[in-house]
Amino acid sequence: MAHFEEGTTLDRFLLETMHAHPGATGSFVNLLKQVALAGKLCSARVQRAGLAGMFGATGSMNIQGEFVQKLDIYANETFKRALEHAGVVCMVVSEEEDAPIFVPPAFEVGEYVFAMDPLDGSSNIDTNASIGTIFAIHRRRSAGRDGTLADVLRPGTDLVAAGYIVYGAGTVLVLSTGKGVHGFTLDPSVGEFFLSHHDIQLAPRARSYSCNEAYAAQWDPRLQEWLRRVKEPSLGWSARYIGSLVGDFHRNLVKGGLFMYPPTAKAKSGKLRMLYEAVPLSFLVEAAGGSSIDGSRRILDKVPADIHERTPLFIGNRENVEEIAEVLRG
Ligand code: AHG
Ligand code: MN
Ligand code: MN
Repeated sequence: MAHFEEGTTLDRFLLETMHAHPGATGSFVNLLKQVALAGKLCSARVQRAGLAGMFGATGSMNIQGEFVQKLDIYANETFKRALEHAGVVCMVVSEEEDAPIFVPPAFEVGEYVFAMDPLDGSSNIDTNASIGTIFAIHRRRSAGRDGTLADVLRPGTDLVAAGYIVYGAGTVLVLSTGKGVHGFTLDPSVGEFFLSHHDIQLAPRARSYSCNEAYAAQWDPRLQEWLRRVKEPSLGWSARYIGSLVGDFHRNLVKGGLFMYPPTAKAKSGKLRMLYEAVPLSFLVEAAGGSSIDGSRRILDKVPADIHERTPLFIGNRENVEEIAEVLRG
């Protein structure tokens, strides 16, 4: 892997790594530039949202509720707008919209399909905890003007790229085209993403779990038993859970850890969505040497039947995920 010194911008990194991806075209770089632009706009809005949230807390709950909704919609519209003008996509799938979104006739289409959770962790907006945007990019297979469902209802192993932007204490864009996972931190004073996490690699094993433990009694008893076992003090485990997948995942990618969202009584197929949550993060985790399953199957091998399909998710350091698979087999 090429060496990149401090101060490498996202644009420079994309242009200089293009040759490593034979299928990639200029339009792919343009697509990622649009993603970065939308990410900057959302980052700016999220920062002002914190301020407005503080004002809102002194008023009625309604304003808070409305506000959360506004930021979800803002992120959705911002990414859609950034992509539809640029001639880089032929279809967008969003958590915020029931049906796939097509490029208006006034604009050119491109060869990529973009799936997104425009704002993940929206319940955390008014708490100032990390939230983010998660995305997955397929190259189209269909031939017409608009993309088709067949362009996205494919295994995650087909992805050309995936990533997320976490709006936290800082704004970080994490991206993989399959070879390595790289993080770029936004310097808000100049409005550029700079390479800050080069070639993120996960250790084989971690001693940290992230899950909503309040639901543990609803989980598979074998999983409950595993949870009891790792709490043995001499094993040195700890827990970290924000309740924003993107924030929890980012923490685990940087520090190591196992994120779990098993099926519950309410969410029998799990809560998280395949196309724009589980699959992109699984693509990233595997590129960083980690692993992810739905309990028994590798997430990247599964073919969703619906654009909003849900899945249970166990994702993180390889040996931890293997251990969960073994626990659930036994
Ligand atoms: P979203 O805000 O996009 O609807 O996603 C929320 C998801 C995910 O971010 C998080 O991991 C999970 O909900 C938390 O669920 P619980 O509150 O059930 O723990
Ligand atoms: Mn989400
Ligand atoms: Mn969302």
